[in-house]
Parts: sequence; structure tokens; C-alpha cells
Amino acid sequence: MININKDGPVFHLQAGRSSYIISILEGRYLIHGYWGGRVETVNPFQLFTLGTRPYSVTESMDSEHSENFNRHWISNGGSLSDKGQLNPESAFSPERLPLEYPTAGIGDLRKAALQIRNAAGSPSCFLEYRDYELIEGFPGPSGLPYISEPPETCQTLRIGLVDQVIGLRVDLYYLPLPSLSIILRWNRIQNNSETAVDINHASSASMDFPGDDMDMITLNGSWGRERNLHRRAIAPGIQSIESRGGTSSHQHSPFIALASRDATETNGTVFAASLIYSGNHRHLVEQDQYGSLRLQCGINPNGFSIHLPPGESFDTPAAVLAWSDSGLTGISDNFHPFVRHYLLPALWRDRDRPVIVNTWEARYFDVNSQNILELAEQGKEIGGEVLVLDDGWFENRKDDKRALGDWVPDSVKFPGGLSDAVNKIRNLGMGFGIWVEPEMVNRDSELFRRHPEWILGSTGRKPVLARNQIVLNLGKSEVVEHLLDVLSGLFSSTPISYVKWDMNRYMAETDEPETPHRYMLGLYRLWSTLVSRFPHILFEGCAGGGGRFDFGSLAYMPQFWTSDQTDAVERQRIQFGTSVLFPPETMGAHVSAVPNHQIGRITSAESRGLTALCFNFGFELDLTIESEKDKAVYSRLSRLYKKYRTLFRTGRFLRLLPELYHFNNSKSHQRDSHAWSIVSTDKNESIVFYFQAMANPNDDGRWLRISGLEEHSSYMDVEKQTIHDSAFLMNRGLWIPPAAGDYRSVFWILKKVENK
Ligand code: DGJ
Repeated sequence: MININKDGPVFHLQAGRSSYIISILEGRYLIHGYWGGRVETVNPFQLFTLGTRPYSVTESMDSEHSENFNRHWISNGGSLSDKGQLNPESAFSPERLPLEYPTAGIGDLRKAALQIRNAAGSPSCFLEYRDYELIEGFPGPSGLPYISEPPETCQTLRIGLVDQVIGLRVDLYYLPLPSLSIILRWNRIQNNSETAVDINHASSASMDFPGDDMDMITLNGSWGRERNLHRRAIAPGIQSIESRGGTSSHQHSPFIALASRDATETNGTVFAASLIYSGNHRHLVEQDQYGSLRLQCGINPNGFSIHLPPGESFDTPAAVLAWSDSGLTGISDNFHPFVRHYLLPALWRDRDRPVIVNTWEARYFDVNSQNILELAEQGKEIGGEVLVLDDGWFENRKDDKRALGDWVPDSVKFPGGLSDAVNKIRNLGMGFGIWVEPEMVNRDSELFRRHPEWILGSTGRKPVLARNQIVLNLGKSEVVEHLLDVLSGLFSSTPISYVKWDMNRYMAETDEPETPHRYMLGLYRLWSTLVSRFPHILFEGCAGGGGRFDFGSLAYMPQFWTSDQTDAVERQRIQFGTSVLFPPETMGAHVSAVPNHQIGRITSAESRGLTALCFNFGFELDLTIESEKDKAVYSRLSRLYKKYRTLFRTGRFLRLLPELYHFNNSKSHQRDSHAWSIVSTDKNESIVFYFQAMANPNDDGRWLRISGLEEHSSYMDVEKQTIHDSAFLMNRGLWIPPAAGDYRSVFWILKKVENK
């Protein structure tokens, strides 16, 4: 809901249990008044303090109404940051103001949200409040992903700001979601002058906070070790995370949270921000000299610049802002339904996901019509529903040195053509999926030989290789058109029901500062066209595992390959961190072979299966050589997945064992245990998983507290047929007896049996 007090004006956005308030000072400065728990009435004079500080730039109020303002301010409860009265000129320091979209050159020396350079080379820009508009509906940034489903009641607030001197207009757009504590924000920057303007940085969102003690939480890692939770105390100065390789990256997910010092998994205040964007990003917090905090997120300004000729505009990606007073759980309780109800492609929101049998860790490049059929037969026996033909299926692709770019099936590996192989698999009653990596070429490919000018970095230097491949410049429309043609041909040549879209390197050279963002616009055009042309295809994103797992990708591809790390124990931590942002049905999770191909660890079939079970369940191992004993475990777990997959897709995912959050990027993770549960929306069922990494000498067992159950109820442990009081389960928990052996996994199905 958006309330506007026209006198101020003061804009009060209510989203779920939160409020976000913007006011205007002196008719000019757009003030970030408040973001936090829902308030009902707003006194604009109590939103911030006013005054000057020694050695800071001061601004005098318009003398015509300063006296009036002065009187009004004081009598309405406005506070001064100086001791005493406002001085006679009613001066104040812009660097003390909480600003909604701060710029350079106005006396606020903190990080600007917008940095431009006008035709004369000046970075100064003073955006003054101009107008506002309430728009029915949810206009989003042009060419960029946004929500596709309108919330129940849906109004967008547009606030217009103008720099009269350089003729720049900035419109800030806000969409509060009525039932979630989430606000979406994005901005349009319009050059209304006679000369070009360069945009060197344009945040999607910027918010100032009073100087309370806060921690910063981020999700960091690397290839094979994505999204480990990291918590640190905020210190004076700027602390930031950013990605620079053209994707949202394995190293730093586009996510930042400010958490009160006492916040835990389930308690305390947390403000979180993420982007609906898959390219270079920066998320930062700055603590200024007075301890106040500024939180910003947007496209990474390093290596970025957009040249804006007169009359043209630039749209930032949208930021997703979530507030919680119940720790990180409250953040996930907002992000998960946001993804499920508003972000995922509409057709896939309510569809259960199939059990995948993927050829990669089973056969690598050595795939052919015969061995994939055998794998499909074995996969079918253990409950597989779609055989996914991963890398290696196209002409010449015997290793990763060649053929990327030429999407023609290998006639030696598939003598009857791909359709013949697909038909045989479909005759088994399985669907067929295919792997592609369309954004790349190898030097040894027909496409590169024909179009060397289509790559990034085609500026005369030898291209920088990674995994022997080069990135195509999707900023060029002819490249996007070519890919649309080739992929549309492939996807309609044979009945494909699933596509794994991979991307296996970062960008190194980017020709021009506009390139990384233009690339993203090209990629999004490609994705949105293909997704609407082939709505029946389930797309799964992948970027060397989870290197582009973000809200931007999920707007087109309803699931993502969480990590190339398929070891169960490593996966537990990755899935745990990933679940802060994303619900389980968006995370690809497959059972792989032991010793694990990435790190050589040996875990039981049960542990590998349970680790993957409540996500997008599948298999990624050579089933033709697996033991009958292990295959029996896989079959049992496939049946369990199918029985509960609707619950997994719709239920509430809860991270248990919250003490993990007190580790600061702990390297002692070898001893970590993990636990999570999924509770059905009616709370009638809860499936609980516990994973113990290492056995503990002289262990006494432990209790695992279960959250999210119905109060004043009882639950039956379906396997043991024992009844447990829900309060007992939520306060004391389930007992996990000591047991020998590392990498142990247990699960419980709890069913509500009575209401007291
Ligand atoms: C990287 C992916 O993450 C793997 O799952 C596999 O698809 C390979 N690429 C294929 O080259």
C-alpha cells in the first residue's frame, strides 16, 4: 500500500509487515526517512535530525520560508543533530542527511548512488525533487528481468528528480508487495539536455541508516564452494562485495544483509538487498564518521560506463529489498515466496520438477546413442524421468578444446541422428533434455572461423582463453539473432523437454565500458525470446555450477545447477547458504558417484541421496556400474521424492542448527553438521533432515530443535510411530543418538495427528 501525505509530500510504502518512508526537505532533498517494522502514522519531522557539524558543507534554507520551517520543525518534534537551536540561517549539512538517491557535488561526501560526467567533464549533479505519480500496475526496467505476476493489489510509485543545470531527470520506481515485507526499486535516468552525459555509476537502491551496531552478512565462495555464509562487524569506511567477470559470480552472490548485532537465524532485525540481475554487481555498506550506515546495490561501477546521448534514457536493474524482525529466517520467508509467486516463469510456478538423469559425471564427453540409452534404461529403473544429454553430443566435441559454437549433433556418436536416440529414450517413457553453452566458441569451431569479429575482445589482441573457450559478444544484435535461429532450430528439431544452459568462464576483455551491461541486455533478449517460443521446455541455468544463480536468471529459468561440487558434505553447506535467497525447487541437486569426482570423498548412497532429496532431485553417475544395493537406495529415495515433491516445492524451508551463524567464515567446517526441514503450508507435515559431518569421539548424541510446527499439536514420527508434542519438538527437539561413522544422515517424516 502507498500512502501519500500531499503536504510534505511524504511517501509511506507499506509492504507486508514493513514500512518504507520517503520525505522531502526544503522542497528539494529526497530524504530516506525510514525502513523497518510497519508503522501506521508518520510525523515527517521525526524521521531524521537536522543541523550542522563542524567542518562540513552547509546548506542554507530558502530564506523565504526558513523561519516558518524553523518554527514548524521545532514545534512538530523535529530533532537537531547539533546541541541547541537551528542557527538563524537554518543551515544544515547534506552529509548528515539520510538521502534516498545521493549524488556527487552536493556536499555529501559519502558514496554517491549516481555518478555522472556531463559534456564539460563535471561529475556534479544535484537532483532536486520534482514530481510524483501513482501508477496502476508494475512497470519494470526496459529489457531487464522483473516480476511477471502482479501482486494482488498493485501500485507503483514514481518519484521524479531533476538536475536543472545539466538537464538530467531521474525517476525512482517503487513497488511494495502487499503480502511480503519486500519492496522492489529501480530507476530510469533520462538525458533531457542538448549534450551527451556519461553515467559512470547508477545504483539500483541506496538507503541510509542511523548508526546502530550492525553486522554485514554476505554469501561468498568460489567455483565448487559457492554461497558460504559470511558475517562480519561493520567498521568505519566502505566494505563491499562485487563481481567483475560478467556474471553474478561464484565468489560473491548479489546479496547483502545488515543484521542487528544480536540477530540470529530466527531473531533480530535484518535488512537484505539483492538484484534481479545476472551481470557485474556491487553491494556495499559505508559507515561514515558519525557511525551512520549507507547501503547500496547495483551494477558494479568498476569497468562500467554508459554514454547517454540527448533524449536517451538508461534503466537500472531492479533491487529486491527485504526486511525481517525474525533474523535470516524472516528474510528467506520473504525471498522464497517472492521467487515462487512473482519471479519464476509463470508456467513453472506450479509444476513439480522431474527426476533428472544427467550424463555428465556418468560419461563426460564420451556419450553416444548406445550408452545414453543404457543410462536411460538404468535411470528409468531407479525412478528417473528425464535423461539429460550433457556436453559432448555435437560434431567434433571429443574434449573441451573444440566445437563450441557449432550446435550440430555428431553423426558418428549418433548415427541415426539425435531424433532416433531421443525417440528410443522417449519409448522408455522418459523425457529428453539437452545441454548447450550458446554464449561461447572454441577457436577450433566453424562459428569462430566464420565470425572472429563476434567475440568479446576482438580488438587485435590474442583472445584470453579460459577452459579453451572465448565469450561471444551478446551485446551485438547479430550474435543474438544467430543464436536465436540456431537454438530455435535445435529445440524444435526433436522433442526436447528440458535444456541445461551452461556458461563456463568469466569475461576477461570487454572492449568498451558499456559491453558487460549490453551483453546482459542481449542475453536477456535471447532468454526471454526462447522461453516464450518454447514454453514447454524446462530450462535449468548453469555457470560452472552456481556462478550465475541469481534472481535475474530465475526470471527466465526456473531452476539452476547449484554447484559443480557434487560431494554430499560440501553440497550441504552450499545448499544451506543458497537457501537464504532461493527456495529448494530452484536448486539442482544430483546424487553422484563415490569416490566423489571433485574431492574424492566417500559417503554412503543414503547420505548422497538425502542431501539432494528436497531440491531438484536427480542422478549424475554411471548407473550401469552401480551396485544393486546402492541402486535400491536410489529407487527408494526417488519414490520418496515423487511422493513429497509438491510439499518440497510449496512448503516452508527452514534452516535448523542456527549456531552456525556465529562462525565467521569458519574454516573449521569439516566438523560442521547441517539440518533443515520443509513444513507443508498447512503444517500437517514436516520432513526433517540432519547431516552430521564428522563423528564425535565420546559423543553423547544431541537434540535437534525443530521449527515451524503447529503450536498446541502433536506430531507422529511416521517411521517409529512415536508421538511428540509440538512444543517439545520446538523447544527441545528430536533426539539424535550417538553413532559411529562420518557423514551420517538421518531424516524424519513428521505428521500432525491431533489438535489439543
Ligand atoms: C560445467 C557444468 O557445471 C557441468 O555440470 C557440465 O555441464 C560441464 N560444464 C560440461 O562441460
